[in-house]
This record gives sequence, C-alpha cells and structure tokens, in this order.
Amino acid sequence: MFDFALPADTSDEERYRELANAGDSLTDGESDAVANMANLAALIWSFVPDLNWAGFYRVVDGELVLGPFIGRPACIRIPFGQGVCGTAASSGETQLVEDVHAFPGHIACDAASASELVVPVLHDDALIGVIDLDSPRPARFDAEDAAGIERLATLIAGRVG
Ligand code: SME
Repeated sequence: MFDFALPADTSDEERYRELANAGDSLTDGESDAVANMANLAALIWSFVPDLNWAGFYRVVDGELVLGPFIGRPACIRIPFGQGVCGTAASSGETQLVEDVHAFPGHIACDAASASELVVPVLHDDALIGVIDLDSPRPARFDAEDAAGIERLATLIAGRVG
C-alpha cells in the first residue's frame, strides 16, 4: 500500500520535494506510460491540496487528448492554442492562471474550477503532453507551485511518452 499523505502545515518546498521523490520512485523502471500517468495524477492529488482536477493531456496527432486524471470527466480533445492547456502546448510555456474566467478561451470542464496551472511536458525537446491542475480556489497557484510541477514534469518526461 502507498500512503503519501503529508501534514497540513507542510511547506510547499517540502511538499514538492516529496512529490518529486514519490513520482520518481513510483515510475522508476516502469515502461507503461498510462500506468505512470495514472499514478502521477494520483500522487499530485495526494500531495497538492485544494484541487478539483489533476492529470494529463497527451499530444496525439497534433492535438491534446485527455490522459489519466483525477476529477470530473473532462473534455477529450483540445486543439493547440485553445484554452489554458492548448496555450501551454502551443507556447511551450507554463500557464499560471489566477482567474480562469478572465482567461480568453478558457475551456470549462468543471464549473467549480477557479484557477489553473498547466505545465508542458517536454522530452528530448519535443512536447509530449501537459500536466493540468485545477483548483476551486481563486489564485490557488503561485510560482512555487509552477516550479514544483515543472520539476516533476522534467523528472518523469521520459516515462510518460
Ligand atoms: N480548463 C482547461 C481544460 C481542461 S480542464 O480544466 C480539465 C483549458 O482551458 O484548457
């Protein structure tokens, strides 16, 4: 059994270090990308508080296609350049959105979502997908969250493609 719960007063720095360690050990030596994305989504859900959605979109034939996630059922296909995920994919840059309702073209998969963090996953300089986190709390994510998920994305990029 895996039990990765952290005390509520854990600092973000510690939280994301633990997430990286757990993500590394849980995917190390496993070649199945779906299994790895599923466990990583569950780990993010366990380690990062105040989320209503956490998971992956994968690049398939030039668009984003829904991957393993925790949360409500979500839109399946997102063209590059559309919404927060599509913007992360087309720009290759992390999108930190304090208020999703103010983001042009935001795609609402869960009406409860108020803020969002989307991090591109790059392997050998090629975009293979994005990690998407949604929160019901406005401005839930800051630069430390972005850096923590970026660190995870770099670590696991070779294991989810
Ligand atoms: N809000 C995202 C769509 C994915 S859901 O949040 C899971 C977007 O605008 O790209």
